[in-house]
Amino acid sequence: MEAGAAVLLLVALLGTSSASSFYGDSISLAPLQQNADGTYKVTFYHRQNGRTSCQNQSALLCDGGLCSDLDRSAAVQTDQDSLGRWCQVEERTTATFQPNGTSFILRGSGCCWDNNLEHKSNWESHAELDLGVRSDSYRINNCPVTATVASLRVSQNCFTHLRLLAHDPDEDAVRCRFASGGPANFTLDESTCTLRGSGELQLGQHVFELTVEDFSTKNVTLTYADGSTVTREASSTSLPPLCRLKLQFVVDVLSPTSSCVAGDLLPMFLSRTPSHGDVLHASVGQTLQLYAEAQAQNAQRIQGFQVSGPQNVTKEFRSGSDGKAEVTLRWTPKESDANKLVPICFAADTAITQSEMRCVVVTVTHTAVLQGRASVTCLPNKMTVALEKASMPDISEEFLSLRDPSCTLTTNGTHIVGTMSFSTCGTKLEVCQRRDGLIQIYVKSF
Ligand SMILES: *[C@@H]1O[C@H](CO)[C@@H](O)[C@H](O)[C@H]1NC(C)=O
Ligand SMILES: *[C@@H]1O[C@H](CO)[C@@H](O)[C@H](O)[C@H]1NC(C)=O
Ligand SMILES: *[C@@H]1O[C@H](CO)[C@@H](O)[C@H](O)[C@H]1NC(C)=O
Ligand SMILES: *[C@@H]1O[C@H](CO)[C@@H](O)[C@H](O)[C@H]1NC(C)=O
Ligand SMILES: *[C@@H]1O[C@H](CO)[C@@H](O)[C@H](O)[C@H]1NC(C)=O
Ligand SMILES: *[C@@H]1O[C@H](CO)[C@@H](O)[C@H](O)[C@H]1NC(C)=O
Repeated sequence: MEAGAAVLLLVALLGTSSASSFYGDSISLAPLQQNADGTYKVTFYHRQNGRTSCQNQSALLCDGGLCSDLDRSAAVQTDQDSLGRWCQVEERTTATFQPNGTSFILRGSGCCWDNNLEHKSNWESHAELDLGVRSDSYRINNCPVTATVASLRVSQNCFTHLRLLAHDPDEDAVRCRFASGGPANFTLDESTCTLRGSGELQLGQHVFELTVEDFSTKNVTLTYADGSTVTREASSTSLPPLCRLKLQFVVDVLSPTSSCVAGDLLPMFLSRTPSHGDVLHASVGQTLQLYAEAQAQNAQRIQGFQVSGPQNVTKEFRSGSDGKAEVTLRWTPKESDANKLVPICFAADTAITQSEMRCVVVTVTHTAVLQGRASVTCLPNKMTVALEKASMPDISEEFLSLRDPSCTLTTNGTHIVGTMSFSTCGTKLEVCQRRDGLIQIYVKSF
């Protein structure tokens, strides 16, 4: 192993102790799956950040106690500072719920925010998903995907903006709002989810409580379990969003630095690093590698990278010459991660500064679909592919929506049937692709 290399497996099962140094949280909801009896299976992830301790964090609860068969993982530590200044845990819960009403709501709360200039103490988490089936995708809406690293740090004189992750799986418009006013001299560009500095920022820790919401850019009709419908007009922000997630974090405003030039004292990401907002693809059972490199030529050194990632992500840090340092993240999605959109955020830290935060979204392909048993029928101008549901456990046709308008999907008790019109039946390899690229059906030869 090269000098300076260190491999950390960032996994620890935690006991319980007081959590009085809350640094914020984010919630991810996996696409809902409908069970045969009309109930839904929901999986949600709660990442919670803290300073000295990430233990004994609070759990998210289904509103009204409507969830059953709750299966909650222990909060697994996903990243931690070696000096004990920040940590992050992720908790994963699956549950079954009976749709009652038009939305599914998760709530959490706890005490206490770490010391902050806003004098906030108690915190509240919230997620609310509209349960109407969308007329454009024939499925329930997918919530936006967002997260932050555990400890955001900006220097007082250099801060210009902070871009938050606001990815929408359904290509809806995402809007971020302050849930209860923002700290002085910070403004929020709601449509790009970018936080900006607008005046002198007070030194110290500021608390941010945001809501991240999605709105359809097309007119859609929502159909509920009881048969009732509502229409949502395109980009109308006076109507409730399709999903609303709370995103909370702390920004520590640090003493001014003598230079604001990126790459000098402030770490700057080098070209091999993914861009903010990139969508990466991963497959169940195959290790995804994400590589980031940063440089701060005149800082003492880059001490490390903070990472907000899924459970069992590993991080390999290596520092090089000229103030460069790199990190390789590795993550192997499990079967249960299939069809999920997983946010990963990272930032490089020196003792007195931090790089920009970048976040990417990893879409995980369910390999079972690729292995699903299919039969293909060719007609002069179209082709039909029938996928046997039994060969694809945990997959519902609700998750299949096709980008190619000439592709249509129908279902019966045993099969998902896709019909494609094209003339070269017999040689075509790629048949259909889900709108967000998650599921691909390949037919090699027939
Ligand atoms: C853990 O949190 C619970 C509820 O917030 C609290 O009652 C309990 O005292 C905490 N445990 C420790 C060891 O601090
Ligand atoms: C929804 O839940 C509430 C409270 O449990 C109950 O009073 C109501 O009847 C339920 N509605 C339906 C449609 O099941
Ligand atoms: C906000 O910025 C203005 C102008 O830079 C400054 O005068 C004011 O003190 C700042 N407000 C706070 C609360 O720091
Ligand atoms: C949505 O519906 C409204 C009212 O019915 C209509 O005025 C508007 O043009 C529609 N917008 C789109 C994008 O179809
Ligand atoms: C993480 O790794 C541990 C140990 O290998 C394993 O028991 C656990 O199931 C893994 N968790 C996830 C979510 O992959
Ligand atoms: C569903 O459709 C497939 C393909 O057309 C057919 O083979 C199968 O028998 C159908 N199943 C039922 C229950 O109708």
